[in-house]
Amino acid sequence: MNKSSLIKELFANIKTTGAVTFSSKSLVNKMLSFADFEGAKIIVELGGGDGSITRGIINRMDEDSILLVFEISKPFCENLKKEFPQDNVHIICDSAENMDQYLEGKSADLILSSLPFSLIPKESRNEIYKKSRSHLNQNGYFIQICYSYLLKFQFANYFQSIRTAFTLKNFPPAFIIICN
Ligand SMILES: C[S@@+](CC[C@H](N)C(=O)[O-])C[C@H]1O[C@@H](n2cnc3c(N)ncnc32)[C@H](O)[C@@H]1O
Repeated sequence: MNKSSLIKELFANIKTTGAVTFSSKSLVNKMLSFADFEGAKIIVELGGGDGSITRGIINRMDEDSILLVFEISKPFCENLKKEFPQDNVHIICDSAENMDQYLEGKSADLILSSLPFSLIPKESRNEIYKKSRSHLNQNGYFIQICYSYLLKFQFANYFQSIRTAFTLKNFPPAFIIICN
């Protein structure tokens, strides 16, 4: 898919994508600057979309690390599979709330999310929070990008430590919530 087809797909499914544009390079760099990739062997991305964050993760992760990318849009999944054919990158066309089925009892060192939590029904959203917490290593980080500072208060029910950052270098300006 070319850039304009990706944007059309994003826009046509705004109720599940929750965005009118993909994350800027600057936002991705800032988000990933909070993640420690050294020794992170299992990495999970929630909401792969066009692959803008996926690409940033792959550029930073160790060669022997594994990346699981969850994405519910079939066209986005097909595109991600073509763009990232590496053996250690698994594009999973399923909801993030089923992450436990794919992690097979293992824990993630990093969970990086751009899911539009404010649009996800409460029950599914809580499942994603609960499973992210229980499948994250003790010293692991869950990092979320979002457009509302208020989302931070939902994370407070699941994570002990929460910090936030902000960038104007995205449309719209975005928050980064760093939880562990
Ligand atoms: C705001 S877009 C972000 C796309 C891209 N990662 C970026 O940063 O620009 C959110 C993505 O999450 C996907 N998504 C929404 N709900 C999901 C769910 N329950 N599980 C997995 N992916 C989901 C959407 O299809 C969309 O591609």
